[in-house]
Amino acid sequence: MYKHLVCCVLIAFHVTLVTSQCYLSINTGGSGEVLWLTSGPFGFSSSGQWRTTDGGTLSIKNETYATSGADALGNFTDTTWIVIHEPSNTTMEAAIRTYWTNDSFVVFIQEVAIRTYWANDSYVVFIQRIPKGLQNSATQPNQTISAFPSFLLESPEVPDRGEVGYLQYGSFMLGDMAKKSGILGPNATFHGGLDGSGPLVFFDRKGNALVLSPLNNFMAASMWQEDHAPVLGWGIMGGVDSLPAGFEHKTIAFCSNQSIGHAVEGWGQVMRQVYNKTQNVTDYHQNQDLSLTHLGYWTDNGAYYYYNKLPGKNYEDTLLLIQKNANDQNIPYRYIQLDSWFYPKDSVQAVTTWDATENVFPKGIPELQGRLHLPLVAHNRYWSVNTTYAKQRGGHFDFFIGHNLSLPTSEIFWQYLLGHAKEEWGLIVYEQDWLNVQLLFTELLNTNLTAGRDWLLQMGSSALNHHLKIQYCMALPRHGLQSLEIPAVTQARVSNDYHLQDDQWRIGVTSHLANALGLAPSKDTFWTTGDQPGNTYDKSEPYPSLQVVVATLE
Ligand SMILES: *[C@@H]1O[C@H](CO)[C@@H](O)[C@H](O)[C@H]1NC(C)=O
Ligand SMILES: *[C@@H]1O[C@H](CO)[C@@H](O)[C@H](O)[C@H]1NC(C)=O
Ligand SMILES: *[C@@H]1O[C@H](CO)[C@@H](O)[C@H](O)[C@H]1NC(C)=O
Ligand SMILES: *[C@@H]1O[C@H](CO)[C@@H](O)[C@H](O)[C@H]1NC(C)=O
Ligand SMILES: *[C@@H]1O[C@H](CO)[C@@H](O)[C@H](O)[C@H]1NC(C)=O
Ligand SMILES: *[C@@H]1O[C@H](CO)[C@@H](O)[C@H](O)[C@H]1NC(C)=O
Ligand SMILES: *[C@@H]1O[C@H](CO)[C@@H](O)[C@H](O)[C@H]1NC(C)=O
Ligand SMILES: *[C@@H]1O[C@H](CO)[C@@H](O)[C@H](O)[C@H]1NC(C)=O
Ligand SMILES: *[C@@H]1O[C@H](CO)[C@@H](O)[C@H](O)[C@H]1NC(C)=O
Ligand SMILES: *[C@@H]1O[C@H](CO)[C@@H](O)[C@H](O)[C@H]1NC(C)=O
Ligand SMILES: *[C@@H]1O[C@H](CO)[C@@H](O)[C@H](O)[C@H]1NC(C)=O
Ligand SMILES: *[C@@H]1O[C@H](CO)[C@@H](O)[C@H](O)[C@H]1NC(C)=O
Repeated sequence: MYKHLVCCVLIAFHVTLVTSQCYLSINTGGSGEVLWLTSGPFGFSSSGQWRTTDGGTLSIKNETYATSGADALGNFTDTTWIVIHEPSNTTMEAAIRTYWTNDSFVVFIQEVAIRTYWANDSYVVFIQRIPKGLQNSATQPNQTISAFPSFLLESPEVPDRGEVGYLQYGSFMLGDMAKKSGILGPNATFHGGLDGSGPLVFFDRKGNALVLSPLNNFMAASMWQEDHAPVLGWGIMGGVDSLPAGFEHKTIAFCSNQSIGHAVEGWGQVMRQVYNKTQNVTDYHQNQDLSLTHLGYWTDNGAYYYYNKLPGKNYEDTLLLIQKNANDQNIPYRYIQLDSWFYPKDSVQAVTTWDATENVFPKGIPELQGRLHLPLVAHNRYWSVNTTYAKQRGGHFDFFIGHNLSLPTSEIFWQYLLGHAKEEWGLIVYEQDWLNVQLLFTELLNTNLTAGRDWLLQMGSSALNHHLKIQYCMALPRHGLQSLEIPAVTQARVSNDYHLQDDQWRIGVTSHLANALGLAPSKDTFWTTGDQPGNTYDKSEPYPSLQVVVATLE
C-alpha cells in the first residue's frame, strides 16, 4: 500500500552531523521543504525525579548508531541515541525508525530540528527503550514518566510558509467532546493527560498534514504539555511507577501532501496494518453486526422511553407494545437496545449486577426475549465496588476493587457474562459505555502499564468467542486506539447524547477518526417525528430528516 513513499524526514539533536541514506531530490511534490516542528529535550523520570537532556540531568552517551531490522511495516533502519543519568547509570534509548523505500526516505541529522519534505504518504516511528527498566518513576497521573519525541512549541521557521494549524482529539466520545484546534506557536494549548492525548494533526493551507499518535501501549500512553515551558512530549502516563527491563514504547508520525483527511486516513491504514485490523477484518465484523446493517429501536438518553415507561405499564409491557406498534406500521425493526435503566446500580450509579431488576422485567430478560423474539443490544457501564460478581463480595470472579469503582481482571468473567447474555437474552451487541469514567476513577487503570489493555482484550476476545460485537461509548481516544487490537469492536459513539446537545448530529470531524480506526461512527438515538407528546425532555426535534440522513450515512 505504501510502496511509493516520497517523503523525507530530517531529525536532529545536539549532536554532530550523521547522515544516512540521504536522498535530497525529494521535492517531487512541488510543495517544498517545510520546517514545522523542532525537537525538544528527551526525558524520563526515575528515583522520584524528572530528568531531561536540557536540564543537564541527562547526557547523551552515544551520538547515534544505526541498526536494521524488519517489522509489520517492512524493513527499517533505527537511528538511536543513548541518554543516561550518569549518577545512577539509568539509560533510555531514543530511536527514530525509518522504513526502506529506496527512492524516498532520508534521515539527516544536523541540528535541533525535525524536517519533513512533504510529498505523498510517509511515516517515521519514534521509539523509547528502557534497557534496564525504571524504578520509582511515578509523577502526576496526567503527566508522563518519559518523553520522546518531544517538540518545542515555536512558530515554524519558514517565513513565507504561512501558519500551521493543529487539531487534537480529546476526552470522551472518541475525542469528540474536547477537540482542540488552533495555530501552532508558543501560545498553542493541547489536551494531554489521561482524558486527552488523542491523535494530533498539524496542517497548513496547502494540504500538507502530519498526524502524531502512540503506536503501542495505547491505554498507558499520554502526551503532556509542560507548564513551565512550551514543550510537548509523548510517553507513558504519569501514574506508572516502574517499567520493566527492555520496555519499548512507540509514537508514529504520518505525513501526507494531499489533505488532513488523506493524512488521517493514511495514518489509520498504517495503524490497522500493524494490528491486522485490515479492511477485510473490519468489513467482516461490521457486516455481521445487525445493529449496523439494520434498523433498530433505541432507548438511550434522548429517546422517548429512556427511564420512561407507558403509564401503568412495566418495561416489559412497554417494549412489547412498542414492538406491536412497529409491526402494525410495518416498521422492520430487527433489534432493540436496552439502556442503563434495566440494571441495578449503587450510590455512585455504578453497576452492581448486570441483569434486569424485578420492577423492570418482573420475569427476567429470558422471558422477555421469549415474547419479543428480537435480538438485543444491551448497555453496561462502570463496575461498582459492591459488584456481586467479585470474590471479595461473595461472587466467583477476580476483581480489582478501588476506592470508587472496581474492574474485572480475568477473562473467565467476560466469558461467563457475555456467554450467558448471548444464550439467554439474545444479545448481539455489548455496549460498553462510560469508558472514560471507568478509566479516570479506577486507580489500577491510572497506574498499571498493562491492566487497561488486559481488561479490554479480555472483554473483546470473549465477545469474539461468542460471536458478539461491541460498541464503545464515552470512549477516550486511548480506548479507540486500543480497539485496533480488538476485532469485535465494530463501532464507537462519536458525539454527545441526543438532546444534551442540539448539534449532536455534527459528527464529521470525529467520524473521520473512527473510520481511520476501522470503527463505524455511531450518532446515537434520534426522533423520527418532530413532536413527541408527553416526552420527558420538554423538547421537539426540528429536523428529523437531517437526523435520519446523518444516521444513515454514518
Ligand atoms: C499517494 O499514495 C497512495 C498510497 O500509496 C496512492 O494510492 C496515491 O495514488 C498516491 N497519490 C499521489 C498523488 O501520488
Ligand atoms: C554506541 O554506538 C556504536 C556505534 O556507533 C555501537 O556499536 C555501540 O554499541 C553503541 N554503544 C552502546 C552502549 O550501545
Ligand atoms: C527486506 O529485506 C530483505 C533483504 O534484507 C528482502 O529480502 C525483503 O524482501 C525485504 N522486505 C521488504 C518488505 O521489503
Ligand atoms: C555507573 O557506571 C560507571 C562507569 O561504568 C561506574 O563507575 C559507576 O560505579 C556506575 N554507577 C552506578 C550507580 O552503578
Ligand atoms: C533499499 O534500502 C536499503 C536501506 O538503505 C538497502 O539496504 C537496500 O539494499 C535497498 N534495496 C534496494 C532494492 O535498493
Ligand atoms: C503529492 O505528492 C505526489 C507524489 O510525490 C505528487 O505527485 C503530487 O502532485 C503531490 N500532491 C500535491 C497536492 O502536492
Ligand atoms: C502569545 O500571547 C501573548 C499574550 O497574549 C501575546 O503577546 C503574543 O503575541 C502571543 N504570541 C504569539 C506568537 O501569538
Ligand atoms: C487530570 O486532568 C483532568 C482534565 O483533563 C482533570 O480533570 C484532573 O483533575 C487531572 N488530574 C489530576 C490528578 O491533576
Ligand atoms: C498479524 O498477522 C500476521 C500474519 O498472520 C502475524 O504474523 C502477526 O503476528 C499479526 N500481528 C498482530 C499484531 O496480531
Ligand atoms: C479480502 O477480501 C477479498 C474479497 O472478499 C479477498 O479477495 C482478499 O483475498 C481478502 N484479503 C485478505 C488479505 O484476506
Ligand atoms: C457498598 O455497600 C456498602 C455496604 O452495604 C455501603 O455502605 C456502601 O455505601 C456501598 N457503596 C456504594 C458506592 O454504594
Ligand atoms: C498490573 O495489572 C496486572 C493485571 O492486569 C497485574 O497482573 C500486574 O501485577 C499489575 N502490575 C503492577 C505493577 O501492579
